[in-house]
Amino acid sequence: MKRRDFLKNTSLTGVGLAVGSSLTSCKDKTTDEKASVIPANKNTTPIALPIVIATWNFKNATAKAGQILQAGGNILDALEQGCMVEEADIKNESVGKGGRPDRDGNVTLDACIMNKDGNCGAVVYMQNITHAISVARKVMEDTPHVMLAGKGAENFAVSTGMKREDLLTESTRRQWKEWLVEAKYKPIINIENHDTIGMLAMDENGDISGACTTSGLAYKMGGRVGDSPIIGSGLFVDNEVGGCVATGMGEEVVKTVGSFLVVELMRQGKSPQEACKEAINRIVNKPNSNYKNFQVGYVAINKQGETGSFSIHEGFSMAKYQDGKNDNLKSEFVVKSKA
Ligand code: GLY
Repeated sequence: MKRRDFLKNTSLTGVGLAVGSSLTSCKDKTTDEKASVIPANKNTTPIALPIVIATWNFKNATAKAGQILQAGGNILDALEQGCMVEEADIKNESVGKGGRPDRDGNVTLDACIMNKDGNCGAVVYMQNITHAISVARKVMEDTPHVMLAGKGAENFAVSTGMKREDLLTESTRRQWKEWLVEAKYKPIINIENHDTIGMLAMDENGDISGACTTSGLAYKMGGRVGDSPIIGSGLFVDNEVGGCVATGMGEEVVKTVGSFLVVELMRQGKSPQEACKEAINRIVNKPNSNYKNFQVGYVAINKQGETGSFSIHEGFSMAKYQDGKNDNLKSEFVVKSKA
């Protein structure tokens, strides 16, 4: 088999030292053979590329992104369009249009994107624009900044041709009004249901990028921003090591700089699974941790194409597209659900 080096920018320091890997990915362009990464242990089967993983059972999103990559498309197009599937789905009440509002009835979106070169873009507290992930990408690609907030983000989106829309639907307006009647502020953080979509992809060159988009915590205080648009918390990618995305109670992810922590643990030699587990345990083992009352979950991928996921509560999962297969894989967890 003819081989060519795809990882021309990959240093063998850091993760290379940790795993003792050749860190070589290969694809024979003269045959139909699939792209692959050679894992650390050469006796194991090469891992097929591309790979797309996402928080929760967001299989429609991973399918979209996977198909784009499989057809030779660009990794950022794949991530953006994968996230857009969920942002446009009004049945998904935690992302994009149809996301649940804050306590004042405003739907406010947070999103970010990070590429293989370590560049990133984010929007926080943005209203009236469905595709927050597209605005985050435009912040990265078309502005000198990494983050735009509120009205500034919205105006920027409109200046690029995006349309203002009412993001509240009949269903989310009704739920908000019911919540107002109860008038109790209790963060409900999706211990069993999905919320934020975080996605990571590895293309056929073995390069990694990621994206994250959400309407955040339902009935949050006006002005609240979660982890999802914060680089290092909701998402972090280091193309020499791997990437991680988070979901769940954003405040707890921010306090532990969760995604950055997972990537740094992988740099030290932990597998994605071990790294996600340790980052969750940092939250669980804090003095006076209230972890029984909120969910946090991580999914991660390393440079060898290995993936992992771990959460506080049972019920979290990782959608995974690889080699034409699109699965929803249950995550390991700390706390078993009450039956
Ligand atoms: N992880 C979503 C949020 O806390 O806003």
